[in-house]
Amino acid sequence: MSFTVAIDGPAAAGKGTISKAVAQRFGFAHLDTGLLYRAVGARVAEGEEPVAAAQSLNTKDLARQDLRTQAVADAASNVATNQQVREALVEFQRDFAAKEGGAVLDGRDIGTVICPDADVKLFVTARAEVRAKRRWEELCSAGGDADYDTVLAEVKARDTRDEGRKDAPMRRADDAVLLDTSDLTIEEAIARAVAAIEQARGQGAG
Ligand code: CDP
Repeated sequence: MSFTVAIDGPAAAGKGTISKAVAQRFGFAHLDTGLLYRAVGARVAEGEEPVAAAQSLNTKDLARQDLRTQAVADAASNVATNQQVREALVEFQRDFAAKEGGAVLDGRDIGTVICPDADVKLFVTARAEVRAKRRWEELCSAGGDADYDTVLAEVKARDTRDEGRKDAPMRRADDAVLLDTSDLTIEEAIARAVAAIEQARGQGAG
């Protein structure tokens, strides 16, 4: 049986951590859909045409070690505004969502466009300043010398681009549970996500 959990939200809101934790807890497969856009962005940064890169994306691209850099994140958010790029990635995501045994997909448009019939939808967010601080701490602990104000400006610029694009903009689906992690610990945020999933599973069984 398939069971789909759609987790959307902006950068550094905690959706990656929450997605991994709930996938492990329930034994579901997990797809970080941002990686698809990052892999396309990385190939475009090397000179490829965006639509061709998206159409020929393969698992080797997703295993690249350089997908987490700020430059690739920016390239990803740019290619993500391209409608044909998004279309080229739909089928892979829907096939993943339909996996036997359950799947968690995290991204920006999972509950709205990719899996509008998902069994559970969460929209994970946090104040921009909190998200920038988390990202800044991540970059610093990875050995970089990041500047907080620059990181905050990048977080806000990416939000504006993700919310404002014409095709599949980032927004909370009407039936998504809102999870604001600004003042929650990771454990508290995970517990709320788990509770929402357990509730939906209970309803399905009953
Ligand atoms: O981890 P972080 O939130 O920083 O970014 P990501 O989830 O890896 O996504 C990188 C970029 O891909 C985002 O800024 C979005 O523009 C785009 N994206 C998207 O448009 N749709 C998705 N389902 C996932 C990511």
